Amino acid sequence: MAKNPVRVLVTGAAGQIGYALVPMIARGAMLGPDQPVILHMLDIEPAAEALNGVKMELIDAAFPLLKGVVATTDVAEACKDVNIAVMVGGFPRKEGMERKDVMSKNVSIYKAQASALEKHAAPDCKVLVVANPANTNALILKEFAPSIPEKNITCLTRLDHNRALGQISERLDAQVSDVKNVIIWGNHSSTQYPDVNHATVTTSSGENSVREIIADDNWLNSEFITTVQQRGAAIIKARKLSSALSAASSACDHIRNWVHGTPKGTWVSMGVYSDGSYGIQEGLIYSFPVTCEKGEWSIVQGLKIDEFSRAKMDTTAKELAEEKSLAYSCLN
Ligand code: NAD
Ligand code: LMR
Repeated sequence: MAKNPVRVLVTGAAGQIGYALVPMIARGAMLGPDQPVILHMLDIEPAAEALNGVKMELIDAAFPLLKGVVATTDVAEACKDVNIAVMVGGFPRKEGMERKDVMSKNVSIYKAQASALEKHAAPDCKVLVVANPANTNALILKEFAPSIPEKNITCLTRLDHNRALGQISERLDAQVSDVKNVIIWGNHSSTQYPDVNHATVTTSSGENSVREIIADDNWLNSEFITTVQQRGAAIIKARKLSSALSAASSACDHIRNWVHGTPKGTWVSMGVYSDGSYGIQEGLIYSFPVTCEKGEWSIVQGLKIDEFSRAKMDTTAKELAEEKSLAYSCLN
């Protein structure tokens, strides 16, 4: 029997990530090849015409799984009964703007959209925040949508996780699908800590530790980490635009694993509300290693943390605590 369509909201859908993301969703990359979807696309008034153009292209592409498209600048209409919300819309930093100016604009948007989701989305709606500052936008959304369970509000660090897998596979000349269990700890920013201490690569001799097989702690403890931390900036330098196809693809990975589960023995990284695991203060949206089952994520427990990792995990937590205070000062 055909499944009922799932309603998926994409905010900022006329932007560059939106343009890459909506066809992926309509093709089943997010929810599976047998899951019909209805796309809800939100953007702001100045982008209304472009948004309508995206809707026209979705119709023209004749995606068999796409059962309907709502394209609107009305946030209440956009959020109505959505089961999944991918929050990409936001205000990018422009020349001459301070970090605080961007933070101020974005946290106000996320405060307003929190209320709309709370009022209009399906009660079990799963939320993924992509727009920067992603962790702090997600935190504001959580704080201003108290009736949405906190476990349903997450932010995207899967792109960083995938970037780490990509760097390891390039270094080893291995298939990316043979590398697993890297971890992104903390903020989706240059303080994030990409950790390979528990990562493995499958070769003809079985599953090996990435650290042992690379056998170059210098590279793993410095260049590898900075390459992943700075990858977003490197893409901007090369494209003159920030990452879009990789961000869209990683957003699909994030939701697909959350809804359909992670393969046995594999974890992924998600920005989630900290419960105090690994000594990370509660009240932050922090990226942890998680496994997913039956639509729920759980933080992987009991991993050994050495001194090097501890310091890096604490640095990125400190940055998130500072962002949180800045966000609140912008809202006051
Ligand atoms: P973009 O500027 O191309 O698109 C953003 C869209 O959001 C625009 O169409 C804009 O009109 C719209 N928008 C602005 N305010 C809105 C509002 N209140 N409601 C709905 N829509 C609104 O930007 P992009 O390249 O698509 O990137 C989007 C965001 O994702 C940025 O914040 C970017 O920094 C972030 N990003 C995050 C990651 C990640 O891994 N977490 C990766 C790449 C980019
Ligand atoms: C990315 O990681 O590509 C984005 O967050 C863009 C950025 O500013 O780094």
